[in-house]
Amino acid sequence: MTTLTVTNAIIAQQELSRRLARKGKTIAIVPTMGALHEGHLSLIRRGLKKADVVVTTIFVNPTQFAPNEDLNRYPRDPQGDLNKIKQAGGQVVFIPSAAEMYPEAFETYISVENLTRTLEGGVRPTHFRGVTTVVAKLFNIVRPDVALFGMKDYQQAMVLKRMTVDMNWPIDFVICPTVREKDGLALSSRNRFLSPESRRQAPALYLALRAARRLVREGKTDAASIENTMRAIIGQDAPSAIVDYIAFTEMETLRPVSIIGKQTVASLAARFGTVRLIDNLKIA
Ligand code: PAF
Repeated sequence: MTTLTVTNAIIAQQELSRRLARKGKTIAIVPTMGALHEGHLSLIRRGLKKADVVVTTIFVNPTQFAPNEDLNRYPRDPQGDLNKIKQAGGQVVFIPSAAEMYPEAFETYISVENLTRTLEGGVRPTHFRGVTTVVAKLFNIVRPDVALFGMKDYQQAMVLKRMTVDMNWPIDFVICPTVREKDGLALSSRNRFLSPESRRQAPALYLALRAARRLVREGKTDAASIENTMRAIIGQDAPSAIVDYIAFTEMETLRPVSIIGKQTVASLAARFGTVRLIDNLKIA
């Protein structure tokens, strides 16, 4: 097992990254908010194939939570996270405090204008400004050659990819497949908050997405009628779920489509009590 270097100060991480670069080592970054699961670990393992050193960052970023959201309830497991990172082969972990990342005088934000208006951005209007700002800061601190994100947060991945291209950061941006439980539920740090009954019902979200893909494979193209089928499946198999949205969008531009064409992603968000889950599937 590899030794794990933990940095907390920005200046220490910047110095470490500079030292690694001077030695000719390439760096991959896996930004996380901790409470790591197999989805995060799959990013670390993929990072190790793409770069010499993987820096995992753990920071529950306050600027991406609205005042009514679950910042204080967000799961935290620092020791468990370090053990998992070590076992996955990650070599460096950057764990800053909120005061380190956002000192009192902080007032600079970075926004991606249009991709953030739909889907999650429609329901959480301040969310992506926080995500892009913190990831921009993490990129500047860690100076990665490669950045890895999961497809589970599809819109986040597209927004951050756009930001990386627009800001001319020379970073290989890698989007990795969603990791799922055996019954299809997408892994998420929030799954642990589902009641046993909601946990039983939650795989219906993936069932609905798969039904959409099957319908498209059978030649159906009308988004509204596919959405009806999906809602019927969720209504039947997950009666506790309240669907926030079901959407069909062009993969990269996130433009909504009413007739399913090539490169279409079906996305959804649903609430089980106070637990909000998102998922998506490329259906064409
Ligand atoms: O996906 C997450 O865990 C967060 O949004 C991220 C990318 C680490 C930024 O805080």
